[in-house]
Amino acid sequence: MSDAKLQINNLYKIFGPKAKKFVPLVKEGISKQELLDSYNHVLGLNNINLTIPQQKVQVIMGLSGSGKSTLIRHINRLIEPTSGEVIVDNKNVLEMSQTELREFRRKKTSMVFQKFALLPHKTVSQNVAYGLTIQGVHEAQAKESSHIWIEKVGLSGFEGHFPAQLSGGMQQRVGLARALATDAPILLMDEAFSALDPLIRTDMQDILLDLQNELQKTIIFITHDLDEALRIGDNIAILRDGKVIQEGNPQEIIMTPADDYISDFIKDVNRGKVIRIKSIVTKGSCRGPNLISSLTLENALKELNKSKTKECNVIDEGGKKIGKVSLDSAIDALLKTNVSTNERYK
Ligand SMILES: Nc1ncnc2c1ncn2[C@@H]1O[C@H](COP(=O)(O)OP(=O)(O)O)[C@@H](O)[C@H]1O
Ligand SMILES: [Mg+2]
Repeated sequence: MSDAKLQINNLYKIFGPKAKKFVPLVKEGISKQELLDSYNHVLGLNNINLTIPQQKVQVIMGLSGSGKSTLIRHINRLIEPTSGEVIVDNKNVLEMSQTELREFRRKKTSMVFQKFALLPHKTVSQNVAYGLTIQGVHEAQAKESSHIWIEKVGLSGFEGHFPAQLSGGMQQRVGLARALATDAPILLMDEAFSALDPLIRTDMQDILLDLQNELQKTIIFITHDLDEALRIGDNIAILRDGKVIQEGNPQEIIMTPADDYISDFIKDVNRGKVIRIKSIVTKGSCRGPNLISSLTLENALKELNKSKTKECNVIDEGGKKIGKVSLDSAIDALLKTNVSTNERYK
Protein backbone atom coordinates (compact mmCIF):
# COMPACT_ATOMS: atom_id res chain seq x y z
CA MET A 1 0.00 0.00 0.00
CA SER A 2 1.43 3.38 -0.93
CA ASP A 3 1.18 6.37 1.35
CA ALA A 4 -0.46 8.36 -1.41
CA LYS A 5 -3.47 10.25 -0.31
CA LEU A 6 -4.67 10.44 -3.84
CA GLN A 7 -4.35 8.18 -6.82
CA ILE A 8 -5.81 8.73 -10.26
CA ASN A 9 -5.87 5.67 -12.51
CA ASN A 10 -6.56 5.49 -16.25
CA LEU A 11 -8.89 8.44 -16.12
CA TYR A 12 -10.70 9.46 -19.31
CA LYS A 13 -13.23 12.23 -19.72
CA ILE A 14 -14.99 12.82 -22.97
CA PHE A 15 -17.71 15.47 -23.19
CA GLY A 16 -20.70 14.66 -25.38
CA PRO A 17 -23.82 12.47 -25.47
CA LYS A 18 -22.05 9.28 -26.56
CA ALA A 19 -18.88 9.76 -24.56
CA LYS A 20 -18.39 6.11 -23.58
CA LYS A 21 -18.56 4.97 -27.17
CA PHE A 22 -15.48 7.01 -28.04
CA VAL A 23 -13.17 5.73 -25.33
CA PRO A 24 -11.76 2.97 -27.60
CA LEU A 25 -11.04 5.52 -30.35
CA VAL A 26 -9.21 7.72 -27.85
CA LYS A 27 -7.24 4.71 -26.66
CA GLU A 28 -6.29 4.04 -30.27
CA GLY A 29 -4.90 7.56 -30.43
CA ILE A 30 -7.49 9.76 -32.12
CA SER A 31 -6.52 13.40 -31.53
CA LYS A 32 -8.61 15.91 -29.62
CA GLN A 33 -9.09 17.92 -32.81
CA GLU A 34 -10.16 14.90 -34.85
CA LEU A 35 -12.63 13.75 -32.18
CA LEU A 36 -14.16 17.21 -32.28
CA ASP A 37 -14.17 17.60 -36.07
CA SER A 38 -15.43 14.13 -36.95
CA TYR A 39 -17.62 13.21 -33.97
CA ASN A 40 -18.42 16.48 -32.23
CA HIS A 41 -17.17 15.20 -28.87
CA VAL A 42 -14.59 16.98 -26.70
CA LEU A 43 -11.64 15.13 -25.29
CA GLY A 44 -11.28 16.50 -21.75
CA LEU A 45 -8.87 14.01 -20.16
CA ASN A 46 -6.87 11.33 -21.88
CA ASN A 47 -5.62 8.47 -19.71
CA ILE A 48 -4.50 10.37 -16.63
CA ASN A 49 -2.38 8.38 -14.19
CA LEU A 50 -1.19 10.42 -11.27
CA THR A 51 -0.03 9.61 -7.78
CA ILE A 52 -0.44 12.68 -5.66
CA PRO A 53 1.79 12.57 -2.61
CA GLN A 54 0.42 13.12 0.85
CA GLN A 55 0.98 16.48 2.53
CA LYS A 56 2.72 18.04 -0.45
CA VAL A 57 1.77 20.60 -3.05
CA GLN A 58 0.90 18.97 -6.37
CA VAL A 59 0.73 21.54 -9.14
CA ILE A 60 -1.27 20.86 -12.29
CA MET A 61 -0.07 23.18 -15.01
CA GLY A 62 -1.08 23.69 -18.61
CA LEU A 63 -2.47 26.21 -21.04
CA SER A 64 -6.11 27.18 -21.05
CA GLY A 65 -8.26 24.28 -22.25
CA SER A 66 -5.68 21.62 -21.42
CA GLY A 67 -7.98 19.93 -18.88
CA LYS A 68 -6.84 21.30 -15.51
CA SER A 69 -10.28 22.18 -14.13
CA THR A 70 -11.77 18.98 -15.49
CA LEU A 71 -9.11 17.01 -13.64
CA ILE A 72 -9.45 18.76 -10.27
CA ARG A 73 -13.25 18.46 -10.39
CA HIS A 74 -12.93 14.70 -10.67
CA ILE A 75 -11.22 14.57 -7.29
CA ASN A 76 -14.39 15.43 -5.40
CA ARG A 77 -16.57 14.04 -8.16
CA LEU A 78 -18.08 17.28 -9.32
CA ILE A 79 -17.49 15.62 -12.69
CA GLU A 80 -18.14 11.96 -13.43
CA PRO A 81 -15.38 10.31 -15.42
CA THR A 82 -16.13 8.54 -18.68
CA SER A 83 -13.85 5.81 -17.42
CA GLY A 84 -11.16 5.35 -14.76
CA GLU A 85 -10.68 5.59 -11.01
CA VAL A 86 -10.10 8.24 -8.39
CA ILE A 87 -8.84 6.75 -5.14
CA VAL A 88 -8.63 8.87 -2.00
CA ASP A 89 -7.24 7.21 1.12
CA ASN A 90 -7.80 3.81 -0.44
CA LYS A 91 -11.41 4.56 -1.20
CA ASN A 92 -12.76 4.85 -4.71
CA VAL A 93 -14.59 8.15 -4.91
CA LEU A 94 -16.74 6.72 -7.71
CA GLU A 95 -18.08 3.94 -5.54
CA MET A 96 -19.19 6.23 -2.72
CA SER A 97 -22.89 6.45 -1.92
CA GLN A 98 -24.57 9.86 -1.97
CA THR A 99 -24.18 10.10 1.82
CA GLU A 100 -20.52 9.08 1.75
CA LEU A 101 -19.85 11.53 -1.03
CA ARG A 102 -21.50 14.37 0.87
CA GLU A 103 -19.41 13.59 3.96
CA PHE A 104 -16.30 13.31 1.81
CA ARG A 105 -16.88 16.69 0.19
CA ARG A 106 -17.55 18.38 3.53
CA LYS A 107 -14.86 16.82 5.66
CA LYS A 108 -12.03 15.67 3.40
CA THR A 109 -11.78 18.38 0.78
CA SER A 110 -12.11 22.11 0.62
CA MET A 111 -11.85 24.41 -2.34
CA VAL A 112 -10.46 27.85 -3.03
CA PHE A 113 -11.95 29.47 -6.10
CA GLN A 114 -10.48 31.92 -8.59
CA LYS A 115 -13.38 34.32 -8.21
CA PHE A 116 -13.31 34.02 -4.39
CA ALA A 117 -17.02 33.02 -4.25
CA LEU A 118 -17.65 34.87 -0.99
CA LEU A 119 -21.16 35.50 0.28
CA PRO A 120 -21.60 39.25 -0.31
CA HIS A 121 -24.08 39.92 2.50
CA LYS A 122 -22.04 38.10 5.12
CA THR A 123 -19.09 39.52 7.01
CA VAL A 124 -15.54 38.22 6.79
CA SER A 125 -16.10 36.37 10.02
CA GLN A 126 -19.38 34.82 8.81
CA ASN A 127 -17.84 33.85 5.47
CA VAL A 128 -14.96 32.05 7.14
CA ALA A 129 -17.29 30.33 9.59
CA TYR A 130 -19.61 29.25 6.79
CA GLY A 131 -17.85 25.99 6.01
CA LEU A 132 -18.00 25.05 9.66
CA THR A 133 -21.66 25.85 10.14
CA ILE A 134 -22.60 23.63 7.20
CA GLN A 135 -20.55 20.91 8.87
CA GLY A 136 -22.90 21.33 11.83
CA VAL A 137 -20.50 23.18 14.14
CA HIS A 138 -22.32 25.43 16.61
CA GLU A 139 -22.34 29.09 15.59
CA ALA A 140 -20.40 30.45 18.58
CA GLN A 141 -17.70 27.85 18.17
CA ALA A 142 -17.55 28.40 14.41
CA LYS A 143 -17.08 32.10 15.03
CA GLU A 144 -14.29 31.48 17.49
CA SER A 145 -12.33 29.18 15.22
CA SER A 146 -12.95 31.44 12.23
CA HIS A 147 -11.07 34.17 14.08
CA ILE A 148 -8.03 31.93 14.44
CA TRP A 149 -7.91 31.49 10.67
CA ILE A 150 -8.59 35.14 9.96
CA GLU A 151 -5.55 35.93 12.06
CA LYS A 152 -3.43 33.31 10.28
CA VAL A 153 -4.11 34.88 6.88
CA GLY A 154 -3.35 38.34 8.24
CA LEU A 155 -6.84 39.81 8.32
CA SER A 156 -7.26 40.55 12.01
CA GLY A 157 -9.33 43.68 12.46
CA PHE A 158 -11.41 43.01 9.35
CA GLU A 159 -13.76 40.44 10.89
CA GLY A 160 -16.80 42.70 10.60
CA HIS A 161 -16.12 43.92 7.06
CA PHE A 162 -18.10 42.83 4.03
CA PRO A 163 -16.37 41.39 0.93
CA ALA A 164 -17.07 44.50 -1.17
CA GLN A 165 -15.07 46.56 1.33
CA LEU A 166 -11.95 44.48 0.70
CA SER A 167 -9.36 44.41 -2.09
CA GLY A 168 -9.04 41.32 -4.32
CA GLY A 169 -6.06 40.03 -2.40
CA MET A 170 -7.87 40.43 0.90
CA GLN A 171 -10.95 38.69 -0.46
CA GLN A 172 -8.82 35.75 -1.50
CA ARG A 173 -7.33 35.64 1.99
CA VAL A 174 -10.90 35.22 3.22
CA GLY A 175 -11.38 32.45 0.65
CA LEU A 176 -8.25 30.73 1.91
CA ALA A 177 -9.23 31.12 5.58
CA ARG A 178 -12.67 29.70 4.82
CA ALA A 179 -11.15 26.68 3.11
CA LEU A 180 -8.67 26.08 5.93
CA ALA A 181 -11.20 26.53 8.72
CA THR A 182 -12.92 23.25 7.89
CA ASP A 183 -9.74 21.33 8.72
CA ALA A 184 -10.11 19.24 5.56
CA PRO A 185 -6.84 17.46 4.74
CA ILE A 186 -7.14 18.03 0.98
CA LEU A 187 -7.14 21.55 -0.40
CA LEU A 188 -8.23 22.05 -4.02
CA MET A 189 -7.13 25.33 -5.57
CA ASP A 190 -8.19 26.00 -9.16
CA GLU A 191 -6.27 29.07 -10.42
CA ALA A 192 -6.92 30.56 -7.00
CA PHE A 193 -4.34 33.31 -7.44
CA SER A 194 -4.62 33.84 -11.20
CA ALA A 195 -6.91 36.85 -11.00
CA LEU A 196 -4.65 38.77 -8.62
CA ASP A 197 -2.08 41.43 -9.47
CA PRO A 198 1.48 40.08 -9.62
CA LEU A 199 2.65 41.56 -6.31
CA ILE A 200 -0.47 40.51 -4.42
CA ARG A 201 -0.13 37.13 -6.04
CA THR A 202 3.40 36.68 -4.72
CA ASP A 203 2.10 37.69 -1.27
CA MET A 204 -0.59 35.03 -1.46
CA GLN A 205 1.97 32.43 -2.53
CA ASP A 206 4.06 33.35 0.52
CA ILE A 207 1.05 33.06 2.83
CA LEU A 208 0.18 29.68 1.37
CA LEU A 209 3.76 28.39 1.65
CA ASP A 210 4.04 29.61 5.25
CA LEU A 211 0.75 28.00 6.19
CA GLN A 212 1.69 24.81 4.38
CA ASN A 213 4.88 24.58 6.43
CA GLU A 214 2.73 24.52 9.50
CA LEU A 215 -0.30 22.58 8.25
CA GLN A 216 1.07 20.11 5.70
CA LYS A 217 -2.09 19.57 3.75
CA THR A 218 -2.36 17.68 0.53
CA ILE A 219 -2.77 20.57 -1.89
CA ILE A 220 -3.77 20.33 -5.53
CA PHE A 221 -2.84 23.68 -6.99
CA ILE A 222 -3.80 24.58 -10.52
CA THR A 223 -2.07 27.29 -12.46
CA HIS A 224 -1.20 28.21 -16.02
CA ASP A 225 1.78 30.18 -14.77
CA LEU A 226 5.16 28.47 -14.75
CA ASP A 227 6.81 30.79 -12.23
CA GLU A 228 3.97 30.12 -9.83
CA ALA A 229 4.21 26.38 -10.45
CA LEU A 230 7.95 26.34 -9.75
CA ARG A 231 7.54 28.42 -6.64
CA ILE A 232 4.65 26.51 -5.09
CA GLY A 233 4.98 22.93 -6.36
CA ASP A 234 6.71 20.02 -4.68
CA ASN A 235 5.59 18.09 -7.72
CA ILE A 236 4.35 19.39 -11.06
CA ALA A 237 2.25 17.64 -13.70
CA ILE A 238 2.03 19.34 -17.07
CA LEU A 239 -1.13 18.80 -19.09
CA ARG A 240 -1.62 19.21 -22.80
CA ASP A 241 -4.83 18.30 -24.64
CA GLY A 242 -5.96 16.34 -21.60
CA LYS A 243 -2.79 14.30 -21.29
CA VAL A 244 -0.02 14.45 -18.70
CA ILE A 245 3.08 15.04 -20.76
CA GLN A 246 5.53 15.42 -17.93
CA GLU A 247 5.55 14.95 -14.22
CA GLY A 248 8.29 15.61 -11.73
CA ASN A 249 9.72 18.06 -9.25
CA PRO A 250 10.58 21.57 -10.47
CA GLN A 251 14.27 20.65 -10.84
CA GLU A 252 13.51 17.66 -13.05
CA ILE A 253 11.25 19.67 -15.30
CA ILE A 254 13.77 22.45 -15.77
CA MET A 255 16.77 20.14 -16.18
CA THR A 256 15.14 17.57 -18.48
CA PRO A 257 12.08 18.91 -20.26
CA ALA A 258 10.21 16.00 -21.87
CA ASP A 259 9.53 17.65 -25.23
CA ASP A 260 9.52 20.86 -27.26
CA TYR A 261 6.22 22.01 -25.75
CA ILE A 262 7.76 21.98 -22.29
CA SER A 263 11.07 23.40 -23.48
CA ASP A 264 9.05 26.24 -24.90
CA PHE A 265 7.21 26.69 -21.62
CA ILE A 266 10.43 26.92 -19.62
CA LYS A 267 12.56 28.87 -22.05
CA ASP A 268 12.19 32.16 -20.21
CA VAL A 269 12.73 30.73 -16.77
CA ASN A 270 15.63 32.16 -14.87
CA ARG A 271 17.49 28.87 -14.44
CA GLY A 272 19.96 30.40 -12.01
CA LYS A 273 17.15 31.15 -9.57
CA VAL A 274 15.33 27.80 -9.93
CA ILE A 275 17.97 25.09 -10.22
CA ARG A 276 19.60 24.08 -6.97
CA ILE A 277 23.04 22.57 -6.75
CA LYS A 278 21.70 19.31 -5.37
CA SER A 279 20.61 18.46 -8.92
CA ILE A 280 24.14 18.75 -10.34
CA VAL A 281 26.13 17.24 -7.51
CA THR A 282 28.72 14.59 -8.42
CA LYS A 283 30.63 12.07 -6.30
CA GLY A 284 33.79 12.98 -4.44
CA SER A 285 35.07 15.85 -2.38
CA CYS A 286 37.48 18.73 -2.87
CA ARG A 287 39.40 21.37 -1.00
CA GLY A 288 36.88 24.09 -1.71
CA PRO A 289 34.39 25.44 0.81
CA ASN A 290 31.11 23.73 1.71
CA LEU A 291 27.89 24.80 0.04
CA ILE A 292 24.44 23.71 1.15
CA SER A 293 22.59 21.56 -1.41
CA SER A 294 19.55 23.83 -1.54
CA LEU A 295 21.63 26.77 -2.78
CA THR A 296 20.54 28.10 -6.18
CA LEU A 297 22.97 28.12 -9.10
CA GLU A 298 22.93 31.88 -9.04
CA ASN A 299 24.21 32.00 -5.48
CA ALA A 300 26.56 29.04 -5.91
CA LEU A 301 28.28 30.59 -8.94
CA LYS A 302 29.73 33.41 -6.87
CA GLU A 303 31.19 30.96 -4.36
CA LEU A 304 32.44 28.61 -7.06
CA ASN A 305 34.14 31.45 -8.83
CA LYS A 306 35.79 32.62 -5.61
CA SER A 307 37.12 29.16 -4.79
CA LYS A 308 40.71 28.53 -5.93
CA THR A 309 39.97 25.13 -7.46
CA LYS A 310 36.65 26.33 -8.92
CA GLU A 311 35.00 23.51 -6.99
CA CYS A 312 32.97 23.29 -3.79
CA ASN A 313 31.73 20.49 -1.56
CA VAL A 314 28.01 20.01 -1.23
CA ILE A 315 26.43 19.30 2.13
CA ASP A 316 22.82 18.45 2.98
CA GLU A 317 20.61 20.31 5.46
CA GLY A 318 22.07 18.23 8.26
CA GLY A 319 25.65 19.22 7.36
CA LYS A 320 26.56 15.84 5.87
CA LYS A 321 28.82 15.88 2.80
CA ILE A 322 27.03 14.48 -0.25
CA GLY A 323 29.52 15.29 -3.05
CA LYS A 324 30.89 18.23 -4.95
CA VAL A 325 30.07 20.69 -7.72
CA SER A 326 32.33 22.42 -10.19
CA LEU A 327 32.05 25.86 -11.74
CA ASP A 328 31.92 24.24 -15.19
CA SER A 329 28.98 22.00 -14.34
CA ALA A 330 27.12 24.93 -12.77
CA ILE A 331 27.61 27.01 -15.91
CA ASP A 332 26.54 24.05 -18.04
CA ALA A 333 23.33 23.67 -16.08
CA LEU A 334 22.70 27.37 -16.40
CA LEU A 335 23.26 27.47 -20.15
CA LYS A 336 21.37 24.43 -21.33
CA THR A 337 18.51 26.21 -23.06
CA ASN A 338 18.70 29.69 -21.71
CA VAL A 339 20.03 31.84 -24.52
CA SER A 340 20.02 35.13 -22.69
CA THR A 341 22.12 33.83 -19.79
CA ASN A 342 24.23 31.96 -22.31
CA GLU A 343 25.26 35.22 -23.83
CA ARG A 344 25.83 36.79 -20.46
CA TYR A 345 28.23 34.13 -19.22
CA LYS A 346 30.16 33.26 -22.35
N1 LIG B 1 -19.02 20.76 -19.82
C1 LIG B 1 -18.23 20.73 -20.90
N2 LIG B 1 -18.71 20.38 -22.10
C2 LIG B 1 -17.93 20.29 -23.20
N3 LIG B 1 -16.61 20.55 -23.19
C3 LIG B 1 -16.06 20.89 -22.02
C4 LIG B 1 -16.82 21.00 -20.81
N4 LIG B 1 -15.99 21.37 -19.80
C5 LIG B 1 -14.76 21.47 -20.36
N5 LIG B 1 -14.80 21.19 -21.67
C6 LIG B 1 -13.65 21.17 -22.61
O1 LIG B 1 -12.67 20.32 -22.04
C7 LIG B 1 -11.37 20.84 -22.26
C8 LIG B 1 -10.68 21.06 -20.94
O2 LIG B 1 -11.31 22.14 -20.27
P1 LIG B 1 -10.86 22.67 -18.84
O3 LIG B 1 -10.70 21.51 -17.95
O4 LIG B 1 -11.83 23.71 -18.43
O5 LIG B 1 -9.44 23.31 -19.16
P2 LIG B 1 -8.51 24.29 -18.29
O6 LIG B 1 -9.06 24.31 -16.90
O7 LIG B 1 -7.16 23.69 -18.40
O8 LIG B 1 -8.58 25.61 -18.96
C9 LIG B 1 -11.55 22.09 -23.10
O9 LIG B 1 -11.41 21.75 -24.45
C10 LIG B 1 -12.97 22.51 -22.77
O10 LIG B 1 -13.53 23.22 -23.85
MG1 LIG C 1 -9.72 25.92 -15.72
